[in-house]
Amino acid sequence: MPCPHLPEGFDVTDPDLLQSRVPHPEFALLRRVAPVSWCAQRHGVSGFDDDGYWAVTRHADVKYVSTHPELFSSWTNTAIIRFNESIQRDQIDVQRLIMLNMDPPEHTRVRQIVQRGFTPRAVNSLRTALKERALKIVDEAVALSRDGGSFDFVSNIAVELPLQAIAELIGVPQEDRSKIFDWSNTMASYDDPEFAITEEAGIQASMEFLSYAMNLAAARKECPAQDIVTKLVAAGDSGSLSNDEFGFFVILLAVAGNETTRNAITHGMHAFLSHPEQWELYRRERPATAAEEIVRWATPVVSFQRTATQDVELGGQRIPRGDRVGLFYSSANNDPEVFDDPESFDITRDPNPHLGFGGGGPHFCLGKSLAVMEIDLIFNAIADALPGLRLAGEPRRLRSAWLNGVKELRVTTAP
Ligand code: HEM
Repeated sequence: MPCPHLPEGFDVTDPDLLQSRVPHPEFALLRRVAPVSWCAQRHGVSGFDDDGYWAVTRHADVKYVSTHPELFSSWTNTAIIRFNESIQRDQIDVQRLIMLNMDPPEHTRVRQIVQRGFTPRAVNSLRTALKERALKIVDEAVALSRDGGSFDFVSNIAVELPLQAIAELIGVPQEDRSKIFDWSNTMASYDDPEFAITEEAGIQASMEFLSYAMNLAAARKECPAQDIVTKLVAAGDSGSLSNDEFGFFVILLAVAGNETTRNAITHGMHAFLSHPEQWELYRRERPATAAEEIVRWATPVVSFQRTATQDVELGGQRIPRGDRVGLFYSSANNDPEVFDDPESFDITRDPNPHLGFGGGGPHFCLGKSLAVMEIDLIFNAIADALPGLRLAGEPRRLRSAWLNGVKELRVTTAP
């Protein structure tokens, strides 16, 4: 049943809401009185015959749904968003070629193949190149801050490393990088009116990126190299990706690994600068637990969606087959049943069983260790070269139905 204590029509996927704040007080209420609660959705229905979703807000329930793909399918699209009606159907067909929206056994086959590119060894092999990048990015920001003026942390620091990490991972040559960065950023911003980038432009960028990635796969099949593309498209024990499958995988990486990590870094900086004692502690001790707390605190992906494959009981609520279920990671990550004092930003928090990378099921974030490495590298570089950074304004937030994003965060080294 809908939560009687929330204003009528309250919808967590309303982009206007997320543009101003993450609704933590409402999540707290839902966790307490209606942990699986029906929300009408006026802003983001994904073109199906229903008009809302079940908001799942407790840590235990989000984990349960994530780890039971036989009850809660990813097939009817995992994002709680609506596209322009005219391109809605095409979009959904395309979504299904992306592993995030697949169920076992198809998902299992693709995941086994792509995992080859994300072994600890594969991720670690990127460390030196990414460390150099992080130092360079921060060095350039040091130059910007010399006259004591303010600069934008997002565009000058947070944006570049996640893009470079994806480019390194798939072995994109230097000369092609600005092209793929443009496509990735266009794909990331097309739901934001401020950018005046239309949905068509977003789709055009994905199509160009897709064809670039497919050509890359074809080239590596012909002429193998020591990179992840070759690993994924060359025949192996667990099979290989076709050129098309590889193309869609790259598109997924450009979406899943780009804005998420950028926002984790930006929210992390904002959290540090709003909690100077934590920044001081970080500068002194560099605790290995910091990156996980940054991701818990930021929870860049507010929600993902599943669809019930049968009538099912969850949190005392009967969910009819075919109904959509929203997994609210932001709420789970503040559940006092699991986290002591969840409202405090504590970079020594350990254990930290947050669900920022997903609820531990088959779709658990493939890029988690890469993201954690990027966060560690950039904050180490900032703590060394820009230790006296301060906030020079409040963050300007992204308008989105499901991402906790920041578009601009002004910072300064001026006292
Ligand atoms: C899946 C979050 C960085 C690649 C996911 C999921 C979440 C998530 C919530 C869905 C989990 C589920 O449904 O159970 C994040 C956050 C990141 C991050 C918060 C940064 C702080 C990355 C990076 C990459 C990446 C850097 C790769 C370059 C993926 C892929 C999937 C995924 C490929 C789909 C896995 C599947 O369907 O099997 N991520 N992610 N992510 N992520 Fe990440």
